Amino acid sequence: MACELPLQAIAELIGVAQEDRSKIFDWSNKMIAYDDPEYAITEEIGRESATEIIAYAMNMAAERKRCPARDIVTTLVAAEDEGNLTSDEFGFFVLMLAVAGNETTRNAITHGMHAFLTHPGQWDLFRRERPATTAEEIVRWATPVNAFQRTATQDTELGGALVRKGDRVGLFYASANHDPEVFTDPDSFDITRDPNPHLGFGGGGPHYCLGKSLAVLEIDLIFNAVADAMPALHLTDPPRRLRSAWINGVKELRVSHG
Ligand code: HEM
Repeated sequence: MACELPLQAIAELIGVAQEDRSKIFDWSNKMIAYDDPEYAITEEIGRESATEIIAYAMNMAAERKRCPARDIVTTLVAAEDEGNLTSDEFGFFVLMLAVAGNETTRNAITHGMHAFLTHPGQWDLFRRERPATTAEEIVRWATPVNAFQRTATQDTELGGALVRKGDRVGLFYASANHDPEVFTDPDSFDITRDPNPHLGFGGGGPHYCLGKSLAVLEIDLIFNAVADAMPALHLTDPPRRLRSAWINGVKELRVSHG
């Protein structure tokens, strides 16, 4: 359930035909799952999946040139024709949207469900009051992106450590999101937390998450729908976690209703 809404939303925005959506999902899964022995996916298969998405995007571009539609690919094709985007940039942008749109939001939803099922007081509160602060706390709590890496463009100092131009720096979002100097009681799941200056969508700046509004909307929609239609969910088994250095993923979360 958690994977269907993000997949449908991003595929609709990009302009992927309904019958091809499971392929995009499968490719983006393979791109992030190579660290997990259960799937036996090599880095090479991960790379092949990236190539498949880019090739798929290129075919869509050719199709949209013949027959424009109201979707992101049509807009990007126009940007390419106007010289604002190279064909490589186009392919990687579609790839990034497909992965970023699928793998993050669905794990936020699954972790959020798990958090509610293990914090029944918060679930009762959500069912009663539906606080507008809920989605942000779910993203802080879940921190679906474990880490990204950046390269310093100039010498700088960070927390007393010297970072030289060209150094690679790991950004550990989960660490920031549980920083006791920033958050009161950082290890409690509190859907009324306000302010909530978490870095789950990045730390601001030009690379701040492009899909934040969409992700927050999807998280709101799904938990409101679950609270209306299936208020009495129970956890039947602990979550099965994805082994990944990059994505804080859940492979399976079994629940029952009633
Ligand atoms: C809960 C869901 C999501 C989480 C936790 C998340 C997290 C992040 C993070 C940590 C970054 C890096 C920000 C930085 O470096 O400052 C990022 C960037 C990005 N996200 Fe998301 N994201 C989510 C949903 C989405 C969705 C739904 C989309 C697509 C519509 C999306 C598209 C992107 C793109 C394109 C970037 C790169 C922006 C750039 O480099 O200019 N994200 N996201």
